[in-house]
Amino acid sequence: MSDTGRRSRILQAAIADGLLHPQRAPLAAFMDWERVTSNVQHLMHAFPSHLTTLHAFAVKANSLVPVLTRLRELGMGAEVASNGELTAALRAGFAPERIVFDSPAKSWQELRRALELGVSLNIDNFQELERVRQILSETPSTSEIGIRLNPQVGTGGIAAMSTAGVHSKFGVPLDDPGMREQLIAAYLENPWLRRAHTHVGSQGCPLPLIARGVNELVRFADEVNLRAGFAQVRTLDIGGGLPVDFETDAPIAAFDEYVAELHEGASRLFSGDYAIVTEFGRSILAKHGFIAAYVEYTKQVGGRDIAITHAGAQIATRTVFMPEAWPLRIEGFTESGEAKPTGTAVVQDVAGPCCFAGDLVARGRELPRLVPGDIVTLLDTGAYYASNPFAYNSLPVPGVYGVSMAAGARPEFSVVREAQLDLELTAVATE
Ligand SMILES: Cc1ncc(COP(=O)(O)O)c(C=O)c1O
Repeated sequence: MSDTGRRSRILQAAIADGLLHPQRAPLAAFMDWERVTSNVQHLMHAFPSHLTTLHAFAVKANSLVPVLTRLRELGMGAEVASNGELTAALRAGFAPERIVFDSPAKSWQELRRALELGVSLNIDNFQELERVRQILSETPSTSEIGIRLNPQVGTGGIAAMSTAGVHSKFGVPLDDPGMREQLIAAYLENPWLRRAHTHVGSQGCPLPLIARGVNELVRFADEVNLRAGFAQVRTLDIGGGLPVDFETDAPIAAFDEYVAELHEGASRLFSGDYAIVTEFGRSILAKHGFIAAYVEYTKQVGGRDIAITHAGAQIATRTVFMPEAWPLRIEGFTESGEAKPTGTAVVQDVAGPCCFAGDLVARGRELPRLVPGDIVTLLDTGAYYASNPFAYNSLPVPGVYGVSMAAGARPEFSVVREAQLDLELTAVATE
């Protein structure tokens, strides 16, 4: 069965179950559990088995607790970047020692909580290091602690997602005058610093660039260990950022290719001297979720066809505000969930419901002619889309459903996040 056929089966079952409904539920999102499972299993086998490896899922990519629970059951850890994400990870049952806390703005309260729990910590800067020293002088902790380095190897295709540029806000800039020495001195003065971390960027960073950043991390750790005279740094956290293919239905992320690139560009990572932590987000889930929305109206404006749907900036925020950086594939289905024949394609804009002119999820796209009552799907949206809604126009947060599809069987749904009633319905329901 083609992937479009698979989505069609999911839509038909969702319509039959009332999870998608033109009035009551005009927008919903779906996660394909079988696909998530095979992708994660692939990741688990991509790194050499003789190394100790923790694959910590970047919770920012999808912080819904049932999703996190499933990833934990598949053997992943969790990377969190706020108190809220830490709470979600704990609710999903992750053991504190399998959680890594990153963030450039950790408050005293967040630091105390992480250190008390024994969550691993990547310190972002020297001021944060001073806070951590102070907390540790009052209360010992079992947390594994490191510092995030900015290897300053350059930016990728999306500047806003690149974190290893000269001016990035993250980490200690390794190449700035005097910084490398200052950082090494910090490690030598604080032998409880047993880790080091880098994350070169997300989406748009070519693999050789990521490998160069990781190589700088390994070189730095080797230097600390040499100067310390013992294996002080034992764990290297190489971040996430594996780019996702938003153009085709490729179900498995390029983990093997990534590891091959690391062998090529950062071979010391595999020496056995270091345990490895990864922090993949998008590459774990993006391809295994999609959003479905009803077309409410269609119109022609200035010779242009526009379909107005219920999927816009509230769930596709990046695509709407940065369309060149985050284009999404879109498909058209009939009201009964059948794929529309592609023979009759016309150029259309696909708009969302938000009250600003730029709320478009596709511009000038060739698609089967959409009519009111049709359904559009926004593909590759399992990470950073429906799970991370934007509260504009007080639009209700859509339901998210997990789908299990044994071969040939009818899709079975589980609730990942309840659909929020819109405020009008909520008011009626609570009267
Ligand atoms: C520190 C850190 N780790 C991991 C990630 C996850 O990146 P991706 O979802 O591209 O794998 C991010 C993304 O912003 C990040 O900032």
